[in-house]
Amino acid sequence: MIRAEALTKEYRSGGQTLAVLKDINFEIATSDLVAIVGPSGSGKTTLLGLMAGLDRPTRGHVLVDGQDLSSMSEDALARFRAERVGFVFQSFHLIPTLTARENVQVPLELRGEDAEARADELLSRVGLDGRGHHYPAQLSGGEQQRVALARAFSNRPRILFADEPTGNLDAETGARVVDIMLELNRELGTTTVLVTHDLALARKARRIIRLANGEVASDEATASAGGMA
Ligand SMILES: Nc1ncnc2c1ncn2[C@@H]1O[C@H](COP(=O)(O)OP(=O)(O)OP(=O)(O)O)[C@@H](O)[C@H]1O
Ligand SMILES: [Mg+2]
Repeated sequence: MIRAEALTKEYRSGGQTLAVLKDINFEIATSDLVAIVGPSGSGKTTLLGLMAGLDRPTRGHVLVDGQDLSSMSEDALARFRAERVGFVFQSFHLIPTLTARENVQVPLELRGEDAEARADELLSRVGLDGRGHHYPAQLSGGEQQRVALARAFSNRPRILFADEPTGNLDAETGARVVDIMLELNRELGTTTVLVTHDLALARKARRIIRLANGEVASDEATASAGGMA
């Protein structure tokens, strides 16, 4: 479970203070699938960074399974990210000189698992059977994002953070990538937080948190929540 408590992020520059997130409170249940929407500059990426332990709040707290990220050392945060968290970004961030399989293997090798078999299993899971030897440049945007998704799942994260993962994809390909995230959420129970500009994609989540002016403007269950709302 992820809990934001009076979460505040300010940036100071040239004697001015920009309040990006103001006293935000919410709770995301384990295995839930939440979309975060809001205008450009409303603090979506900032919020993901705070929840993922990539960045620290000015005030307030993020608790993950009761553990306060702000009380953790940099080393403990790095361990938290490596063991618990998967990331997908708008630009896929694949390493161009490595094949699809090698890209997925990168975090696995650090953990000393049978990386190649696991990488192939993950690539198959995202519909890229037999494409493991291809380099990113030989794959379409949607295929590259699916490799990034496979890589994000390589450490068996309990939480997946995706920041505009469909931003560089056409609508149909983007929907396909989100559908795979939905399947993985259902099958593995991975708590999933998806930032998107696309309301149609956001509605596939069970809940939509809308940010505006640094605050939670609305927080609603969607039709996809079924009886769970
Ligand atoms: N390191 C920083 N220093 C100063 N201001 C920052 C910094 N990082 C972000 N900001 C500001 O914080 C605000 C929120 O940025 P953020 O990237 O979280 O927005 P966003 O909702 O993700 O926008 P987009 O939809 O365009 O990705 C913006 O006004 C941005 O300029
Ligand atoms: Mg952003």
